[in-house]
Amino acid sequence: MPLVLNRRDFIKLTATATAAAWVGVRPLRAGGASDALRIGIVGLRHKGWEHVNQLRAMPDVRIVALCDVDSTILAARTASLAKIGIKAAAQADFRRMLEMKDLDAVVIATPNHQHTLQTIWACQAGKDVYVEKPVCHNLFEGVQIARAAEKYGRVVQAGTQKRSDQGHIDGFAFIKQGGLGKIRLVRGLCYKLRPPIGHVSGPQAIPATVDYNLWCGPAPMAPLMRKNLHYDWHWDWATGNGDIGNQGPHELDLARWVLGETGLPRRVVSVGARLGEPDDGQTPNTQLVLYDYATAPILFEVRGLPMAPGENEVDAYKQLRVGVIVECENGSFVTGDSGGWIQDLQGKKVRRFTGDGGGKHMRNFINAVRTRRPQDLNAPVREAGISSNLAHMANLSHRVGAAAAPEAIREKLSAHPAALEALGRIQTHLDKNKIDLGKTPLTLGSWLEWSDAQQRFTDGEGVDRANQLLTRDYREGFVVPTVT
Ligand SMILES: NC(=O)c1ccc[n+]([C@@H]2O[C@H](COP(=O)([O-])OP(=O)(O)OC[C@H]3O[C@@H](n4cnc5c(N)ncnc54)[C@H](O)[C@@H]3O)[C@@H](O)[C@H]2O)c1
Repeated sequence: MPLVLNRRDFIKLTATATAAAWVGVRPLRAGGASDALRIGIVGLRHKGWEHVNQLRAMPDVRIVALCDVDSTILAARTASLAKIGIKAAAQADFRRMLEMKDLDAVVIATPNHQHTLQTIWACQAGKDVYVEKPVCHNLFEGVQIARAAEKYGRVVQAGTQKRSDQGHIDGFAFIKQGGLGKIRLVRGLCYKLRPPIGHVSGPQAIPATVDYNLWCGPAPMAPLMRKNLHYDWHWDWATGNGDIGNQGPHELDLARWVLGETGLPRRVVSVGARLGEPDDGQTPNTQLVLYDYATAPILFEVRGLPMAPGENEVDAYKQLRVGVIVECENGSFVTGDSGGWIQDLQGKKVRRFTGDGGGKHMRNFINAVRTRRPQDLNAPVREAGISSNLAHMANLSHRVGAAAAPEAIREKLSAHPAALEALGRIQTHLDKNKIDLGKTPLTLGSWLEWSDAQQRFTDGEGVDRANQLLTRDYREGFVVPTVT
């Protein structure tokens, strides 16, 4: 830049400063599209396409690549963008996309079992990452993904967008300042209708348009034993994590955040089962989990069955279906889709904290990529890794557990009045659904003790098996590395 500005320099500077003002960060180098961040999106069927539509509205972002292992989806998405003048390179193999030199960052919206590996690959290739929740498929991955972001110096944001909701930020700050006294209990709720996924009698044909080797990635390349390959992977342990690992990471993250806990709890126990019409899913659609944190416990409930057979609606707890209730000495903070409100001890709403559901979460990522300051991220991957692992540890308690009669379950939870109360409501809910627990019993999970220092379970029935399931046998070519 010359010492004396001529008119052209002045115009350039003004334009740059204006651009900087609206992105709220360091000035762009040259301004305009040529200086836009070049982004690729992987996994385009549903969530990834939402991200595409959000990103293409951002003037300082350019979508340069799309990736999906389903050629029909990839072709349709690429064609849709082409129609509006966005020319994106189409790739079926994410590794080829990462070889692109003119790519700065990637957005990952593939199934859960791909998240950590794809993020680590991207970090190694020098790309910044926005990765959907849960950011990992097992506890081992939750640690490696955070280490990779740090080791390779990348900006890695998790898709836990509620971290960007001003109502949560303000409400939690109010609680942390003692506005409601001590926290007694944090409830997390995931009441979401999950109809059965059907039942097949043998292996199903893989859609001809899908590269199944890439779709499976780190998971075993096993025959498809359900009707739909897409989406219903959520309910198969090899690829998904049930609803506690699907919707759950949002609310578990809020619960841990408000508690200010920086690690996993000392103990966890899960009670649950997959109930109702038998189908090919494996994960529980009814689950109650107690996390034993020193500050206060988290009690998490999953309900996928309707209020009653044939209904299209799920129950609610105190008018809430999905959200968090922070029960404190002098009242509660209740959060739903966006923001939250304070209720006094009589349940009267006394103060509202307005939020937007985290609508500026992607913007927060883009800004941090520009400033190269991971500390500016609202949902750094380290935090999301811990919160995702809350879901995984609950599922391990369930998976090493055994069928038990209601009395045995009540006995096991007898020291925890809130869990007993929730169990009572679950029983009423199951009665309404005409579930006979004598015929299809609940699984009483193991009370697993956890050591953050050792990063493993240290006690509880089935502890050895639970520790084996902290990670998986990765398929050659798709191994999640131990990052040191
Ligand atoms: N943050 C949120 O609120 C939110 C909301 C919905 C979904 N999600 C997350 O987004 C992810 C995707 O969810 P969805 O509902 O779109 O799932 P989906 O199954 O409908 O779509 C996944 C897409 O990824 C593609 N894919 C699978 N493996 C791939 C690979 N190795 N490389 C490239 N493409 C691959 C599939 O072909 C499919 O098009 C999930 O992890 C989910 O938890 C987050």
